[in-house]
Amino acid sequence: MVILGIETTCDETAAALVERTDDGRGRIMSNVVLSQVAEHAEFGGVVPEIAARAHVEAIDHIIAKAMAEAHFSFNSLDGVAAAAGPGLIGGVIVGLTTAKAIALTHDKPLIAVNHLEGHALTARLTDGTPFPYCLFLASGGHTQVLGVRGVGDYLRLGGTVDDAIGEAFDKTAKLLGLGYPGGPLVEKEATRGDPKRFALPRPMAGRNDANFSFSGLKTALRIEATKIAPLTDQDVADLCASFQQAVVDVVMDRLRAGLRMFRDRVGTPNALVCAGGVAANQALRKVLHRLAFEAGTMLVAPPPALCTDNGAMIAWAGAERLALGLTDTLDVAPRARWPLDQVTKTPPALKFAHRQG
Ligand code: KG4
Ligand code: ZN
Repeated sequence: MVILGIETTCDETAAALVERTDDGRGRIMSNVVLSQVAEHAEFGGVVPEIAARAHVEAIDHIIAKAMAEAHFSFNSLDGVAAAAGPGLIGGVIVGLTTAKAIALTHDKPLIAVNHLEGHALTARLTDGTPFPYCLFLASGGHTQVLGVRGVGDYLRLGGTVDDAIGEAFDKTAKLLGLGYPGGPLVEKEATRGDPKRFALPRPMAGRNDANFSFSGLKTALRIEATKIAPLTDQDVADLCASFQQAVVDVVMDRLRAGLRMFRDRVGTPNALVCAGGVAANQALRKVLHRLAFEAGTMLVAPPPALCTDNGAMIAWAGAERLALGLTDTLDVAPRARWPLDQVTKTPPALKFAHRQG
């Protein structure tokens, strides 16, 4: 089957065509991503209203490009999938409504995908990873440890109690005047810095649960930076290196606890999978490899372009759901909040809306 996937939950307008063969293998036929980074850069973060308007302007062209690059027609599609949340609601509405229009016009099944489920299932598209596996989802909006037991079957093992991990990178970059998005910039500075120069805290380390907290780390960093201001280039590099080292240590400790919980509550994991934009960080990937090895499993880390937001992950999740007969009606609602462990086989519908078929 061939599915069109549409992603508009944050600051990427993306569309892709993905094929799923009957034996469950995936093939990306096209994957078009338009980043709005330039529009948001001067604000140091994503501005929801700007994002929604930019999605409206771009979505038609991005979908047309994805169709053309795959040499495919709407009529030949087997289904249309869109991220129906969680995310910035203005953007979610744009993508989901567009998908509904295409599904209605061409009489195709609609699949309303949870954006996090898209991240969670990407390892099956890229590596064919069998269930169950332990997922570390690390992005600008999310930090979660999940037991992935099947399509629509997720067990939350831990998450952040305050900032998301990518948000911590972005705020660090902002504080140090590096720009946006902060992750890649902090990582670059860290390569020439001294990770031991500043004694930053390792929040939550040593606890039995798999929860994270990043706001104390951010505050500690601000205090250290204020103490030595004005900052030299070397100070900035050392602060970045010390921050990144603290994050890496925290992730190592928290995931070790998460993998223990996975064994107790799910069983032996077939892999430790990382997903989300922060999974592009090389220092982090290195320790995740070590951690997976230590836990007697392997690390599956999709290529960075499939770790950050994209349409292929939505198309693939749509294909996995459609293969199980899980489709949605045209009254399915966009959702700003939609925890992954609340993904069910029958998503809630809008009240009073028109029903398909
Ligand atoms: O998954 P994503 O593209 O969007 C969502 O948040 O859903 O993730 C973006 C986040 C940003 O916070 C960005 O700073 C972070 O991922 N990021 C990184 C790196 N590349 C992107 N963080 C650390 N190191 C990186 N190399
Ligand atoms: Zn994402």
